[in-house]
Amino acid sequence: MKEHLLGLEGYTGDEILEILELSKTFRQVLDRDVKRLPTLKGITVANLFFEPSTRTRMSFELAEKRLSADVINFSASTSSVKKGENLRDTVDNIGAMKVDMTVIRHGAVGSAQFIAKHCKTVVINAGDGAHEHPTQALLDFYTIREHFPDFKGLKVCIVGDALHSRVIRSNVFGLKALGADVTLCAPSTLLPMGVESWGVKVNCDIEEAIRGANVVNIMRLQLERQTAGYIPSLREYGIVWGINSELVDLMDKDHIIMHPGPMNRGVEITQDVADAPESVILPQVTNGVAVRMAILYLLAPRSGDIHE
Ligand code: CP
Repeated sequence: MKEHLLGLEGYTGDEILEILELSKTFRQVLDRDVKRLPTLKGITVANLFFEPSTRTRMSFELAEKRLSADVINFSASTSSVKKGENLRDTVDNIGAMKVDMTVIRHGAVGSAQFIAKHCKTVVINAGDGAHEHPTQALLDFYTIREHFPDFKGLKVCIVGDALHSRVIRSNVFGLKALGADVTLCAPSTLLPMGVESWGVKVNCDIEEAIRGANVVNIMRLQLERQTAGYIPSLREYGIVWGINSELVDLMDKDHIIMHPGPMNRGVEITQDVADAPESVILPQVTNGVAVRMAILYLLAPRSGDIHE
């Protein structure tokens, strides 16, 4: 494990599997009557969320509390950012309060890297613009592994807004490293320039892309990041690209349905598919707490590391 978790680019399959193995231990803790461990006693973690979040924010806070860390939460909408303070000054001030670890979600690509470079704190990227969302991808892999222990040759179809999705990027980096057979599917207007160099199959035909897949990971349209009319309408996207039971019928008979949330039911996924027995959307959320506990454990500074 590196000093910070900024993204999955550059991680090897073995490094990812090591995190997933450790996460199993923490996942078992979540099923116990007493779910708290003393592991991070004395460590202070700041959760800095400059963009909205439900799952990631709550999941990190819960993971930190389960490990007995001291937790402070920061929300841009109620902070001095509203008075014009910049990111560097905000984080420097939080650092001056002797925070050991910082979890950050920010709309700017590279924001997590910037803090890691300039501030004395361990940084975990909870999503930076359209760049990476590594903990989401790791919890996705943990959930896949509960159903398919071997990633080698596993057929994974990722459907959605590849132009703006940080979850897709982190999934692609990690799944490639793990040896999965990845197909990316999106309208051509929502494919980034240079996608051919990503090293995965790209197919704009959803029926062809999903046929025989073991895993479909369905992404939300990132409307908040879309600056142009990439699709004619939400209704048309839903009709052509929305994953419905007819498309799921084309998958391998042994399959799971995934979505990182938040879902737009009736757009990228139909009600019946979201709630199907093969849907692992809620287990993804449960597993996310365990995976984040493992990451916090692996990155936590040992005494004297940060503030010596
Ligand atoms: N999957 C995910 O990042 O969800 P939130 O935006 O609710 O954190």
